[in-house]
Amino acid sequence: MKKGKSQSMAIIGTSIGVIALGLATPSSADMNPPLAALGPPPVPLDNPQTPEKVELGKLLFFDSRIGGDASVSCADCHAQKQGWGFNDSLSRGYPGVIHWRNSQTVINSAYLGKLFWTGSAKSLEGQAPSAALGAVSGNGERDMVEARLAFIPEYVKRFNKVFGDDWPKVNNTWKAIAAFERTLIHDQTPFDKFMRGDKNALTKQQKRGLKLFQGKANCIECHNGQLLTDQKYYNLGVPRAEDWLENGMAQVTFRYEQYAKGVTEEMYRKIKDDAGLYYRTKQKSDMGKFRTPPLRYTAYTAPFMHNGAFLDFEELVDFYNAGGGTNEFTDGTFAKSKTKLLKPLKLNDKEKEDLVAFLESLSGEEIKIPTPKLPPYAPLPAMADAN
Ligand code: HEC
Ligand code: HEC
Repeated sequence: MKKGKSQSMAIIGTSIGVIALGLATPSSADMNPPLAALGPPPVPLDNPQTPEKVELGKLLFFDSRIGGDASVSCADCHAQKQGWGFNDSLSRGYPGVIHWRNSQTVINSAYLGKLFWTGSAKSLEGQAPSAALGAVSGNGERDMVEARLAFIPEYVKRFNKVFGDDWPKVNNTWKAIAAFERTLIHDQTPFDKFMRGDKNALTKQQKRGLKLFQGKANCIECHNGQLLTDQKYYNLGVPRAEDWLENGMAQVTFRYEQYAKGVTEEMYRKIKDDAGLYYRTKQKSDMGKFRTPPLRYTAYTAPFMHNGAFLDFEELVDFYNAGGGTNEFTDGTFAKSKTKLLKPLKLNDKEKEDLVAFLESLSGEEIKIPTPKLPPYAPLPAMADAN
């Protein structure tokens, strides 16, 4: 990437990007999969759950030795006390950088077929290495991780028992972590109890909110089925992260990611907003699109959206009530990829409160587990003998 004088955030081009978006609006709420209580999570055939594997995965989830400089674990960005996510708009990053997106909760991630804000991983087994090895998250290195694990006798023993490994294999690390994540299930919310037949599980206000969710507010259009997500991608016009204009560290990661994701030089220089799914498809019609997130456990996971734009449910509902927002990327024109499914909702104050009350019913008791004690390093027996 050539660096020129014009490399400045302030430049806004004037050319008008033309994007054809001829799709008619599919509507009719009753075509959407109905809301339902959460069933058990799917488990892949090649990674069956066993108590020993889950226990090993739990240790590894909390263990920073699978990260580059052995200082960042999964649990540092997916902290129990922060909804198993990270409560800043943008997540903390690997030492020396901050992340460019909001950290998602790992609670109920076991159900998702598309992981990350733009669905770039298809399974927990595939997601974990991206997280542990990615430059702005764990920044680990496979051989180093394996070497470290080999010097932790407790892990050598456990990998052998669970996977039959002579020495811990790094790929089995991801399998064990995935097995642990499949135990982080949130299916006892007031909403789930209501859907299973306990008519008193929701308050009157929450029931009104549920009706709005499926009716006037039309949230059901995208947040549907048992997960409350269609796992499709939309540009809602979420306002850009302020940090990208104000915080040098955040800008560094943001620019780096443009480069890493292979955008054009013009875009690298001028872009001011997260282009979302575009980075994966390079289709203009995918600019600013993100995966519809599931909605359980969100009482603990604010701020919301891919960049943490909204601090609470009230701000979020105001955003939807206004028909979403507008975003621009490189050319100073409003994104043409914004979904046609969002329209001003005309909810009054009482209805907004009802909707917020319903959103609260999607979270039950907080999931807390004792932080495991991590096994120490020890020299390998052969090396110890040699001394
Ligand atoms: C430095 C912070 C950081 C570390 C370390 C980290 N994560 Fe994440 N995690 C994030 C962020 C930020 C996202 C969203 C990123 C995106 O979509 O681009 C995310 C997304 C996820 C998701 C996707 C959830 C969903 O709804 O799609 C899972 C699962 C996850 N992380 C698990 C892990 C595991 C397992 C580890 C350890 C191997 C880990 N993370 C390490 C910050 C981190
Ligand atoms: C057109 C599809 C669509 C509709 C309709 C829709 N949403 Fe969303 N929702 C999304 C997408 C996509 C995101 C993520 C956007 C982003 O990060 O840029 C999201 C994010 C959210 C989040 C944040 C979750 C998190 O983990 O950060 C909540 C809460 C939410 N929506 C609730 C609602 C409510 C309430 C309604 C109805 C008023 C609604 N949504 C209507 C697609 C939709």
